[in-house]
Amino acid sequence: MRNLRVEKEIEVAKKIIFNNKQYSQGYKKYHVVPFKGTENIKELFSQLQSAFQVLLMVTGSGDQVLEAVLHGAKDITCFDINILAKYGCQLKIAAVKVLSYEEFITFYTRGFSLELFKKVSYCLEEDSFYFWGSLFETIDHYVIHTSLFDTKDHSRFGLMDTNFSIYSKEDYEEIKNNLKNVTIHYMDENLLTLPKKLNSLNKEFDLAYFSNIFYYLGKNEKFYAKFLLHKICPFIKKNGEILFHYLYGAGGKIQSSSFQDILWINYNLEIIECLEKYIPLTKYRVSNSGYGNPLGDKDVALSLKR
Ligand SMILES: C[S@@+](CC[C@H](N)C(=O)[O-])C[C@H]1O[C@@H](n2cnc3c(N)ncnc32)[C@H](O)[C@@H]1O
Repeated sequence: MRNLRVEKEIEVAKKIIFNNKQYSQGYKKYHVVPFKGTENIKELFSQLQSAFQVLLMVTGSGDQVLEAVLHGAKDITCFDINILAKYGCQLKIAAVKVLSYEEFITFYTRGFSLELFKKVSYCLEEDSFYFWGSLFETIDHYVIHTSLFDTKDHSRFGLMDTNFSIYSKEDYEEIKNNLKNVTIHYMDENLLTLPKKLNSLNKEFDLAYFSNIFYYLGKNEKFYAKFLLHKICPFIKKNGEILFHYLYGAGGKIQSSSFQDILWINYNLEIIECLEKYIPLTKYRVSNSGYGNPLGDKDVALSLKR
């Protein structure tokens, strides 16, 4: 049966591919698919003291989701403003389920070979099967890899970094095995309108993870702090927490020289200082991921505990 919504999303994906709008700024309803996470989640999740099973998190590239699966998450509710993000995440999860580690790395580093895609496709959920099937049927797999995903943004880092466990052989098998007992639910939703949707889910979360969305929200610290306190906290279990912002290179030893660098570090420090006026913060410091012009040798993740 035809699914008009998915057909529209396929058309949008084709427009992104052929207009090659990889570098449009900001995040919106239809955007290139995130290829890879840009945060040091591996170290961050290892520092969390309480175990978590029920999670609310941004979909992004799916790397954060897979890290959560390694750490024992069983029930994950993903949301993203970008409608295409869920397709990227579902493709990655299906790839982990069916491919060997070597095949998985080949699939993501050598332009999504058609042969491997065919294997992966049988494990895709219905909408994703239709979405990816239509694209791979009509567009060269290498073009999909380079034009629908933001792969160019990641070319200087490569896939085999240490920030996400899924790219290491040792953890890959454990994540693959854990995935057998995980339920993932996706919502196409802006963080700011998320609470309305959460009302209808009737769920409480151990942990919420919002990546660095705050940088792009266009809201000030006072607004964000109140939003977290009044609109998100009610959905968090007692003793649960919200990891609500991730600041690249905003801590540790600062190696800065240029005036612009100093402005950037001051901007980040002001964000932290300002948020601290409104909510009690817990700061996690992890080795910097290398993204976002890191000046300090530590990235800082901010958390609000319930
Ligand atoms: C903030 S971005 C940055 C990249 C990120 N550091 C990572 O590791 O993936 C991560 C995801 O947040 C999504 N996003 C950005 N603004 C959002 C918003 N207001 N509501 C929901 N999702 C948003 C983007 O579409 C993207 O998939």
